[in-house]
Amino acid sequence: MLSSEQNKLVTEVENGSPCGQLLRNYWQPAALTEELTSFRAAKAVRIFGEDLVVFRDEEGNYGLIDRACPHRGADLCYGRLEDGGIRCPFHGWLFDVGGRCLDQPAEPEGSKFNTKIKIKAYPCVERNGIIFTYMGEGPAPSLPEIDCLQAPDAHSFAFKGYLECNWLQATEVGIDPSHASYLHRYLEDHDPEYGLQFAGKSGEGVLNVTAVLREYNRPTIEIENTEFGMRLLTTRDIDKDTMHVRVTNLVFPNLIVIPMTNDMVISQWHVPIDDTHSWWYAMFTSYEKEVDKEIMGEQRRDLYTFPDYRPKINKTNNYGYDPEEQRTKTYTGMGMDINVHDQWAVESPGAIFNRENEHLGAADKGIIRFRKVLIKSIAEVMEGNPTPFMFNSDNEDLKGIGPVAIDTTTPRNSWKEDWQSFELDRRRSAAWISKETS
Ligand code: FES
Ligand SMILES: [Fe+2]
Repeated sequence: MLSSEQNKLVTEVENGSPCGQLLRNYWQPAALTEELTSFRAAKAVRIFGEDLVVFRDEEGNYGLIDRACPHRGADLCYGRLEDGGIRCPFHGWLFDVGGRCLDQPAEPEGSKFNTKIKIKAYPCVERNGIIFTYMGEGPAPSLPEIDCLQAPDAHSFAFKGYLECNWLQATEVGIDPSHASYLHRYLEDHDPEYGLQFAGKSGEGVLNVTAVLREYNRPTIEIENTEFGMRLLTTRDIDKDTMHVRVTNLVFPNLIVIPMTNDMVISQWHVPIDDTHSWWYAMFTSYEKEVDKEIMGEQRRDLYTFPDYRPKINKTNNYGYDPEEQRTKTYTGMGMDINVHDQWAVESPGAIFNRENEHLGAADKGIIRFRKVLIKSIAEVMEGNPTPFMFNSDNEDLKGIGPVAIDTTTPRNSWKEDWQSFELDRRRSAAWISKETS
């Protein structure tokens, strides 16, 4: 439980709020590259409650600038992409990706007025289908050297989805390992293949992962503090010899890294649009094989509306809830897509859940630990201390960290060593990982 002051502190992200200030000190996804088509390489973006425009100039540079033209406030989202920047259609002022005003064609010949004008602009870097931005104070730090951002583009696929809730509510699902045994439960294994896609080695032999989650529903959760945030080790006793182990991570402050298959991890950022809305941005990274971006895109196209990336199944249609399905097939009655289950779970408490009303138990230890770290980190940044868990190029502790995301079954007596050796094997199989760091 949090007091209402604490709840405000960790959820509010707009207008210079302390939590917004902290989150801005880390690179955040601002858009997918696929949103900037060759036909129209500009799009409105709302992030931390700021209305901005992301665009790509003719040289391929990305910019994220204020949406309101500094001349007389017209909407730059309708700008013309030409002459090295974006030009306001009202009187032709031209801005480059750095926010400099390059031209004011209606001003007298030789006027230097343009040199006095600077529009708000945030630096951008593209990596594997996502345009990241740095909106913090001072010079931008280096991008975290984590696997998903180091992988070659051919090994990555990125997507995003819209959530009608605060960023923290969405993030907290990622550090709540016990929910998978309930929220995502399939009452029977109607399809023996289903669920294997989420399994690591657990798919081989004993049970597929949906059966593991269903049959062994009281996991033991251990939390480890790490250089990048925290690691969650969730274990389930399968029998007297065998343990199911799932290793997931929170890369501070809003990135969750979880296993998807033996070869693939999902890295998911929960980015505030404003206090009451957020995006999830997911990057799927394959260690060994190249990914089929076309198929992965197609699998999602039918589930969302574009260009707003809103899920078609949402609260306006009761998340597809079907009581008969709930009785016979799924724990939620909301279909087989686990993203829909999570969406209901994070949206239904209200856009900003009043955490004065909650009752956290032992199974919520990930959430409890994270909030303590978050509150402490906000205080540190507000006091002018360095931003915690910061990746920079000379921090040797953070080189080659992965982070590890594993789903596997191992002998009980060696599970602590086994998941680490499985991780090493997997990282060694990736040609793109430097052998010194793996
Ligand atoms: S309002 Fe944009 S150029 Fe005048
Ligand atoms: Fe979930």
